[in-house]
Amino acid sequence: MRKRIKVQDIVVGMYIDELCGSWMDHPFWKTSFKLEDRNDLTTLQQSAIREVWIDTVKGLDVAMPVEEATEVEVGQQAEQLLRQAAMPAPKPELRVSLEQEMARAIKLQNKAKQAVISMFEEARMGKALPIGEMSALVDEINESVSRNSGALLSLARLKNKDDYTYLHSVAVCALMIALGKQMGIEGDALKSLGMAGLLHDVGKMAVPDDVLNKPGRLTEQEFDMVKTHPRRGWEMLKASFGVDEVALDVCLHHHERVDGTGYPERLSGAALSLAARMGAVCDVYDAITSNRCYKAGWAPADALRKMAEWQDGHFDESVFQAFVKTVGIYPVGTLLKLKSGRLAVVTDQSKQSLLKPIVKVFFSSRSNAPIMPEFVDMSRTQDSIESVEDMAKWDFDLKKLTGVC
Ligand SMILES: [Fe+2]
Ligand SMILES: [Fe+2]
Repeated sequence: MRKRIKVQDIVVGMYIDELCGSWMDHPFWKTSFKLEDRNDLTTLQQSAIREVWIDTVKGLDVAMPVEEATEVEVGQQAEQLLRQAAMPAPKPELRVSLEQEMARAIKLQNKAKQAVISMFEEARMGKALPIGEMSALVDEINESVSRNSGALLSLARLKNKDDYTYLHSVAVCALMIALGKQMGIEGDALKSLGMAGLLHDVGKMAVPDDVLNKPGRLTEQEFDMVKTHPRRGWEMLKASFGVDEVALDVCLHHHERVDGTGYPERLSGAALSLAARMGAVCDVYDAITSNRCYKAGWAPADALRKMAEWQDGHFDESVFQAFVKTVGIYPVGTLLKLKSGRLAVVTDQSKQSLLKPIVKVFFSSRSNAPIMPEFVDMSRTQDSIESVEDMAKWDFDLKKLTGVC
């Protein structure tokens, strides 16, 4: 039986089935393992992970009554949080369709990736960062997000292990802008948030590549090295001309947590700015939905559910709620199986409810064959969502499905 318990209640001999946090929070390679080493227990308790799932069939159970939760309880809490966040649905904006924006977004993403690669190269060599060029890029990303945020955001998830760090910067930029808009931020303040997203991980250039992309468990020393990136980035940005306070703040504090268990300064509560709280949510969402060299990313809908499970102490509640509204419960690009057996990809959020998106049906899982593509508004059909499907399992081409061949 799976139980969620606090890290302080773990003992050697338990089977850790899942660590409740993103893989930037701990140095373990596997997240399921029998805990047999006392040093591993200390490492785990000193990490930013606060809770774990244990499997009492495969390892020891808790000896005394402790604070614990079952899967049903945790699932219900997460579901309730997501449903609360989903209502009311955000006001629809005047914008272009996903198909229309996708072609432009692909070009913009390629251009942005190249620009970020060269900026990171300059950073690696200790040169001044091309902030003016980055500022023009943020404007273009802002325009694309305003036309249709789903295009760039769904593309951003399709990273491969080699371009992860660069496209992660572009994705966090787009997410910060989309989230900022959702929270009513506009103009220069919105642009600052986008710039902060683009620059937040520049300090990773001070961490050796073989540590950053190590396909295995990090040693304590290596993990400490990775954790220097916020401060190293802050130093690089401080030395560059034209970087504003918001970018400096987000760079230094995007791994801080509202309960004070993050790094590097262990700030908590009011000491953490709104921008830093926004950065933390966007950063974790993009990291856990992306494929890494050592781990396949989660489907966006699953990632949101996990984040809702971890929410307490991990993220600012109102920022997380706004974030759910921003990407939707079923973000654009999510592959769904409907009760009818049809497979569909989410192409837009519905005006009625984020739980009933607009989808394009295109495949029958019952006959295992393509069907005539058709757009369906889930708020106006008898059919309903059965499950979120893993895009990798079905091997469909998201770009084709969303209209770009
Ligand atoms: Fe980071
Ligand atoms: Fe990051």
